Amino acid sequence: MTTDTIFNITKTSSSRIDNVDLDTPGFGREFADHMLEMEYKDGQWQQPEIKPYGPIEITPSLNALHYAQSVFEGTKAYYVDGETINLFRPEKNYERMMRSCERMCIPKMDRDIFIEGIKELIQLDHQWVPQKDGNSLYIRPFACAFDPIISARVAETYRFYIITSPVGSYYDRPVKLTTSQQYVRAVRGGVGDAKTAGNYAASLYPAQKAKKQGFDQVLWLDAEEHTYVEEVGTMNIFFVIDGVLVTPDLRGTILPGVTRDSVVQLAKHWGMPVEERRISIDEVMEAGENDMLDEVFGAGTAAVIAPVEEVHHDGQSVTFDIDGRGPVGQKLYNRITAIQRGQAEDPFGWITSVKVD
Ligand SMILES: Cc1ncc(COP(=O)(O)O)c(C=O)c1O
Repeated sequence: MTTDTIFNITKTSSSRIDNVDLDTPGFGREFADHMLEMEYKDGQWQQPEIKPYGPIEITPSLNALHYAQSVFEGTKAYYVDGETINLFRPEKNYERMMRSCERMCIPKMDRDIFIEGIKELIQLDHQWVPQKDGNSLYIRPFACAFDPIISARVAETYRFYIITSPVGSYYDRPVKLTTSQQYVRAVRGGVGDAKTAGNYAASLYPAQKAKKQGFDQVLWLDAEEHTYVEEVGTMNIFFVIDGVLVTPDLRGTILPGVTRDSVVQLAKHWGMPVEERRISIDEVMEAGENDMLDEVFGAGTAAVIAPVEEVHHDGQSVTFDIDGRGPVGQKLYNRITAIQRGQAEDPFGWITSVKVD
């Protein structure tokens, strides 16, 4: 099947690209010319449409607004040259979105709609992919309930969208993290490993409190014992302790990040010792006190590798005198971004190239 038969395509008659500075686009504020939209009704997904990006009509009673039956993904397209745009592991985002859909009772959609839909949008809007180092075209697929009914039940109608947005780098300086003794992000049996709207809404209040105290993000601890490190708002967390790369293992409460998985694979490929395990905040603070904590960084699509300059817990802080990434974080950042931009070999088969004309 060709993509023309999968998608019903209506191109924009007037591109907005000349109004946007792709060197300084900010994050998530500008949107490329086209979007994908697909409706679910009568028990099945209907033919997807690609059409000009624009507002959608909803009723105030839309159940997604009230009950957050809603999931999303985030991946990026990278400029290689005038003929090639690279996608980084989009099938991992598809698989994660299908797990999120399952958890939130949203009907799954075909792999081809997701992957070919992204590719088709990139073909159409390839001029929106920024060329500047560190910039990229963020891709946001999402699906939500679409019943115009105020009722906390599984919906009968849904919409799936893919929108894209030229973005710059997420953090422009090392981040300061603090744990919270009072609030938690996720509990076992909850939805912490699903990329679903409510997780983010629930974390805003503690994150705002942390900001008022001078921190950038909360370093979440486990909900039962408030002892074990989980993750950061939009990133997984890594520690380099005495030369060993340590990250919390996946046990249902943290988001299985695509960047996290890439960091683990790359470090193992280099022969670096890697441990995915429970790590207590006390172990982190002790390693810091004993000069064994070499580096701390967050890993995620938005920020890639974000260096951490302070970890604060229970009145104590471990700080790093840095103005950029540490050696391990920098090496990972260099290699991952070089693979993404087609400037380094891709031994893992992570890249899906889109040829554009
Ligand atoms: C809560 C959370 N953890 C971790 C991540 C990192 O995941 P990824 O590397 O797939 O972007 C994200 C971003 O998607 C996130 O929102």
